[in-house]
Parts: sequence; structure tokens; C-alpha cells
Amino acid sequence: MAPFPPSTPLHLFLFFSISISILPISESQQLQGVCGLEWDPALCSTSGKILIKGGTVVNAHNKEVADVYIQDGVIASVRPNIIVSDDVTILDATGKYVMPGGIDPHTHLAMEFMGTETIDDFFSGQAAALAGGTTMHIDFVIPVNGNLSAGFDLYMNKAKNSVMDYGFHMAVTKWDETVSEDMQVLVNEKGINSFKFFMAYKGSFMINDELLLQALERCKNLGALPMVHAENGDAVAEGQRKMIELGITGPKGHALSRPPLFEGEATARAIRLARFVNTPLYVVHVMSIDATEEIARAKMSGQKVIGEPVVSGLVLNDSWLWNPDFAIAAQYVMSPPIRKSGHDKSLQAALSSGILQVSLLPDQTYVGLYNSRSLRLVLIFTHL
Ligand SMILES: *[C@@H]1O[C@H](CO)[C@@H](O)[C@H](O)[C@H]1NC(C)=O
Ligand SMILES: *[C@@H]1O[C@H](CO)[C@@H](O)[C@H](O)[C@H]1NC(C)=O
Repeated sequence: MAPFPPSTPLHLFLFFSISISILPISESQQLQGVCGLEWDPALCSTSGKILIKGGTVVNAHNKEVADVYIQDGVIASVRPNIIVSDDVTILDATGKYVMPGGIDPHTHLAMEFMGTETIDDFFSGQAAALAGGTTMHIDFVIPVNGNLSAGFDLYMNKAKNSVMDYGFHMAVTKWDETVSEDMQVLVNEKGINSFKFFMAYKGSFMINDELLLQALERCKNLGALPMVHAENGDAVAEGQRKMIELGITGPKGHALSRPPLFEGEATARAIRLARFVNTPLYVVHVMSIDATEEIARAKMSGQKVIGEPVVSGLVLNDSWLWNPDFAIAAQYVMSPPIRKSGHDKSLQAALSSGILQVSLLPDQTYVGLYNSRSLRLVLIFTHL
């Protein structure tokens, strides 16, 4: 179910996250990590009882002016005009929205990639998330030389300085019998139930259709959710060859080498293979109209497909990639790339109408690149 009315414009999402900085109080433990940074000291009360008074409480099913009473970190009551005793800390939320904490379903904290590392580790990334009203996130475990279990151990270690709830998806960077067997261990013993496969990155992470089919079958057998990075890796390799031949090797060449066409094609292929296998499918970072249309069509036919837009796709266009300053243009390189103006508005419309269902933070920033914290949104997570 969509957590907001279909007509909710995007800027309201931003507004919500800013206006209800009182969100994370449902987890008293989390406050300790945030109070010291940039939080309102009034919220750092050690009293186990808090009343959020007079706000507009927004839930998946409705929106009403009500008080929220919290005892020992647990919401005990939500109704209008709750009368409390003197020992309860009262927070006036009149004129503000009070929403459940957001769940960010796609983060890469402390991730090593292409010789660099994402700028936020589990502590700093989570502190920023909490400040924006996101109280839980799901990060991607990257295997160690293809070994899923070794990757899981590594990430459990990286997450030691966590200050909020988190979960893990597992990225699968190669495919063979050992990996397939390891998936069962992760599902049965480690609580992992979603696996991401790459249709792009030929020569490294990419798996072909034969292997993708096996992977989808395996997920189905294990009751796990397959996720795909949907771009046609063969076509991208060819696009890259052409750009290099033309001498277009800067950031704009990145976008030109992998047009929306390739994203639409791979999305359609993944959707059809998932239908053949009869498994749900989660398409990560949907960046184009082309991919959105495939998802819309599949959903209309009753297939279970989740499309996840990202903030960069929702609010930016490719003009940045043409900036003559390499250092600026390079900050806007991502895969799939940021598209021409028009895709952004379409993705927004698809998100507000429920064709696309989740949204994630632009937290995939690497050292030396821009710090995205000012762009943080409350994340909306829906399920199948
Ligand atoms: C994968 O890593 C785990 C944990 O480090 C280790 O026990 C296992 O032997 C490794 N598997 C392979 C096939 O190397
Ligand atoms: C494309 O992005 C640039 C830079 O953010 C912005 O100035 C411009 O208005 C955008 N174009 C359209 C048509 O929205």
C-alpha cells in the first residue's frame, strides 16, 4: 500500500523529513548516537516516558491529528488528547507531521569499490540517516572474491559501530555451485533473504541469461527475493568501445555509452525471466522512462515487480555530466546514468502513483566526491 496519497508531490517528502525531526525517539538507544551531533537537546531526555503532542500522525492507512505516547522506547498509545502525569516529557508537534521512521532499502556504507571507498561508514551514515528521520536501513554485503559468507563476516565487522537497526541484502558478484550452496547458509542461518544480481559490468560482476535463470530459480527455491541491476552489459561494453573510438572518454561518455534503451531492454528481460521462473523481482535504481514502462506493464498484468527509483534519478538531469569542469561532472557519474531532463519528472510521477515503490538515499558517495547529506529524504518502503 502506498504510504502517501497518490497526489503527494515529491517536495512534500522532503518537507516531511525535515519537519518531523522528532521521529527517531521510538528507539531510545538511537538517540544517544545522535544527541551529541546535531539533535535538539530536549529530545535527549533520559525519562522513559515521552508524549508527542498535537502533531498530524501519518500512517500507511490514514492521517490524523493525535498524540503519541511512548514508554521505554515503545509506542504505547496513539490517539487524540492523551492526558499524562508530570514526569512525562512533552514534545509539542503542533503543525508538524509525525511519521514512522523511514526504512532505506539500499545503502552502501563503508563499501570498497574501484579503488576507493564510500564516504560514510556505518556510524556516520546512520547518524545522518537518523537526523533525517530514517531509522532502519538495508545495506548490501559485497562478497570477498565471490565468497558470500566471507563477505557477510566482513560486513558484520564493518557494522560494529552501528547506532540504528540495519539489515543486509547480499550482492552476488559471480555465480557457481559454491555460491548457490552458500546462499542457503545465508538464508537459513544469517537472516539474508534478498540477493542482487548484475546484468551489467561485463567481465566482472555480470551474469548472462543462463546464469541469471539459475539464480532466479535458486532464489525461488529458497524463498528469497532476487534483485537485479538491469542494464544490458554486452551492449554497454559495445557502447563504451564506440565512445573510446570517438575519443569521448570524459563523464558524458559514460552516459552516452549506456543509454536508457539498454536499461529498458534489461529490465524487460529480467521481468520476463522472472515471470518464466514465477518469482517476484526487485529492480534496483530505476533511472529511465524505458525501465519504468516495463515495470508498469508487468505490474498491470499482475506480476510482482518492485521498482526502486533513486534520488539522483528523481531530481537531477544529465546536464551536470556536460559540465566542462571534470571534477564537477565526475560527481554525477553513476550506473545506470542520470538521464536527460524528462526522465526525472516521469520517475517522480511513477513514484507518487505507486508504479515505483521505494526510494533510496543518494548515499553512494565516495571519498573526494560530493557529500550528499543535504539531499537526504525519508525513505519509503513497501512490500509485495
Ligand atoms: C568462504 O568463506 C568462509 C568464511 O570465511 C570460509 O569458511 C569458506 O571456506 C570460504 N569458502 C570458499 C569456497 O573458499
Ligand atoms: C537540468 O538540470 C539543470 C541543473 O540542475 C537545471 O538548471 C535545469 O533546469 C534542468 N533542466 C530542466 C529542463 O529541468
